[in-house]
Amino acid sequence: MRRQLVIGNWKMNGSSASSSNLLSELLVGLNAGRVDAAEMAVCVPYVYLSAAADAIKGSSLKLGAQNVSQFDSGAYTGEVSPSMLADLGCHYVLVGHSERRSLFGESSQIVAEKFVAAQASGLTPVLCVGETLEEREAGSTLAVVESQIAAVIESVGPEGLLNSVIAYEPVWAIGTGLTATPEQAQEVHQYIRRCLGEAGEKICILYGGSVKASSAGELFAQADIDGGLVGGASLQGEEFLAIGQAAK
Ligand code: 13P
Repeated sequence: MRRQLVIGNWKMNGSSASSSNLLSELLVGLNAGRVDAAEMAVCVPYVYLSAAADAIKGSSLKLGAQNVSQFDSGAYTGEVSPSMLADLGCHYVLVGHSERRSLFGESSQIVAEKFVAAQASGLTPVLCVGETLEEREAGSTLAVVESQIAAVIESVGPEGLLNSVIAYEPVWAIGTGLTATPEQAQEVHQYIRRCLGEAGEKICILYGGSVKASSAGELFAQADIDGGLVGGASLQGEEFLAIGQAAK
């Protein structure tokens, strides 16, 4: 059976104080055994990673970053390398989030380079893919997702995705309150698994896009959905714990 995983993506939110409070709330819940079936992780803004790593030490909560450079060191002002993230105790790193692709011009080629660099430093990349509303309405959802994944397969082969997580996040569902129906999400997850051949059976594939405690149960009950990548709702401790509890 594939493991269940729920990752919170805090995006560019919070302060030292609010981050610390949110982590404390999560740790109380996790230490009390509130979430038993899923691994829980949080992708924290770079500047709070170090404090978060100290706060969660010894707990079951895993740490992740939201982005990473494709380069490992050198004259890349403002960038953060995979080895720096590993050094801080990060386990996961998001690559190719739709906000990085659309707002910061990250091509599928750059995303593939980040994926490879992250794995080379021992991080587990969370490869984010998903279609825009126009692409869905044009009937090209599956082709878009397949081409985003193909860019990574070209670099590492399908087996290279085994030490990674894939997150299907339809762009039209991110931060909009519109969640894909369980059937819409399941269709894409099943397709992604098929594209990956044998490796596809083993890879953890998460759904993201306006996941809430009230929608998580039905989504996570789908055969090919192994958990969630959660934005807004991961900023509230109780809500995020309840989403974790929805994993079976
Ligand atoms: P929301 O859950 O806020 O829609 O964000 C989803 C997301 O982008 C997670 O990476």
